Amino acid sequence: MGLKWKRSVKGLTDVLEGEHMAIRLGDVAPDFTAETTEGTITFHEWLGDSWGILFSHPKDFTPVCTTELGAFAARKGDFDKRNTKIIGVSVDDVASHEKWKSDIKETQGSALNFPLIGDQDRKVADLYDMIHPNANDTLTVRSVFIIGPDKKVKLTLTYPASTGRNLDEIVRVLDSLQLTANYSVATPANWTDGDDVIIVNSITDEDAKTKFPKGFKKLKDYLRVTPQPNK
Ligand code: BEZ
Repeated sequence: MGLKWKRSVKGLTDVLEGEHMAIRLGDVAPDFTAETTEGTITFHEWLGDSWGILFSHPKDFTPVCTTELGAFAARKGDFDKRNTKIIGVSVDDVASHEKWKSDIKETQGSALNFPLIGDQDRKVADLYDMIHPNANDTLTVRSVFIIGPDKKVKLTLTYPASTGRNLDEIVRVLDSLQLTANYSVATPANWTDGDDVIIVNSITDEDAKTKFPKGFKKLKDYLRVTPQPNK
């Protein structure tokens, strides 16, 4: 049986059993309506024309999650500058989130300033395949989905419950995604905003001369670097 066929049979079984297939890059981010700490939200409508970041938390009143929510709240201005809305999800209800909020403010010094979805029925967690039963069959892993203005998934990250996410990395990859969406470039290992970038191989040297007026260095036929075009 070919791989593709096997996957579609497995997908069909998953659907029949009420499970969901993993979300892949380029897929349309599933839409949903849910209660949040900022009222009822229908995801696509709430996103509007913005970029979006949806991230999961295993459970309320847990230590790593408390630090992460404070860290996302502290960086809200960086997401706003990048026309990006952030929204968290945790498999407890909104009433529980409301009680948890004061602990986040008290211990992390930043009050929750974005919606946190109440997902006690795990609707969103299941829709986004955030529960990995071989890791834990009730709590979500720490998933991150970055969604473009076209509602398509641009990045997925999965961390275990025991590892808090790195906000610098999330902002860094958002910068890379927004840059590469607008210019014919890719970003090298460990790139951060302002560093040189790579010209994609579909651009000829001739076209690169006009597209990248700051010039480029040709280290190999397939490896050409240029200053970041929007700086
Ligand atoms: C935490 O946020 O600290 C946590 C949550 C669930 C399992 C383990 C740790």
